Amino acid sequence: MLNRLTQQSPDALLALIKLHDADPAPDKIDLGVGVFRTESGATPVFGAIKAAERRLVEGQDSKAYLGPEGDMGFVHRLIPHIFGKSDKPDRLDGMQTPGGTGAVRLALALAKRAGATRVLMGTPSWPNHAQIVADLGLELVPFNHATAEGAADIEALLAALATAGEGAAVLLHGCCHNPTGVDYTPGEWDRIVAALANGVVLPIVDLAYQGLGAGMAEDAYGARAVLAGVAEALVAYSCDKNFGLYRDRVGALYWQGQDADAATRIMSNGHALARANWSMPPDHGAAAVRLVLEDAALTADWLAELEGMRRRIRGVRDALAAHGTAGTLDLTPYGRQQGMFAMLPLTPAQIAALRSEHSIYMAGSGRINIAGLTPGNLGKFTDALAAITA
Ligand code: LMR
Repeated sequence: MLNRLTQQSPDALLALIKLHDADPAPDKIDLGVGVFRTESGATPVFGAIKAAERRLVEGQDSKAYLGPEGDMGFVHRLIPHIFGKSDKPDRLDGMQTPGGTGAVRLALALAKRAGATRVLMGTPSWPNHAQIVADLGLELVPFNHATAEGAADIEALLAALATAGEGAAVLLHGCCHNPTGVDYTPGEWDRIVAALANGVVLPIVDLAYQGLGAGMAEDAYGARAVLAGVAEALVAYSCDKNFGLYRDRVGALYWQGQDADAATRIMSNGHALARANWSMPPDHGAAAVRLVLEDAALTADWLAELEGMRRRIRGVRDALAAHGTAGTLDLTPYGRQQGMFAMLPLTPAQIAALRSEHSIYMAGSGRINIAGLTPGNLGKFTDALAAITA
């Protein structure tokens, strides 16, 4: 039976990590997978997480199972940071998931259980979104995410919502859109929420980069507005980037039910789906986040380090915009966009030339990880762009 399986190509984005690692060029540049990098190119463990991990090693007296919901102290301690002060606390709850991917998977599986057959999604999107939708047997209904001028195509989203009908969910990036960096403004979020208020389409907000755009509260504007303006919604959350816990797989799925009883029933379905998929999420990273959030000094430390990351990303964006053009490319829109990613309008041949002739690695879509650019390599990068677009 297994012999029937056909060869699958490796995930293109994850394959880039290995291609970059194998390149011996001393001045190679990794703009591939979305991990934060310092000006010296490192992806360090947060100081607050290191301190929490030391406490965990000393203080944890058992590794016995927790349950499909994971560490609920972690889940609940995050709530004020994500949602601010909820006016419907008895309707809002969540559970821990293996990373943001686990949260998106659980969100879509819950939507399917509740009757969704279709998922509206702005394109381009994070490629794994479409893979999860397809793997769950849901229909993908694409709409255009960004205009040619580099703003959000809000009219395309509103038109998709207006014609969606029953049985649809919409998957929205909460902030720091992956891959375009093109976010909705607060005014646009308000229009989206008004369009969702009739409750026909279930909103699923993927919030994987909170704190890396404009600020913790600013980046949560959309998720908070959705919860305030609609009866029910799902929010998939990731701590992979804003706590730097990538490989530890730390995420959570939050939901707002129509009432407290609905929230309890959503939880029971979340438990059942988790049990069937991964049984229970890995503990270590979530426990470390909980310890950070239980301690005011460590929390302040975490937020300060996150602010430093945000400033660095903003600095790279400003430097790109200040550069103006590179060959035929206009770099100024990247200064107006947010978060770790931007899309360069390059052809596959140009992306291949950047790799083979300049040892610059980016996704085949033209997406770059802004945090891979540093004061030391920005000149090489813009020179290479000028050379390949000349
Ligand atoms: C990315 O888009 O680079 C990250 O979200 C990592 C991943 O899992 O794809």
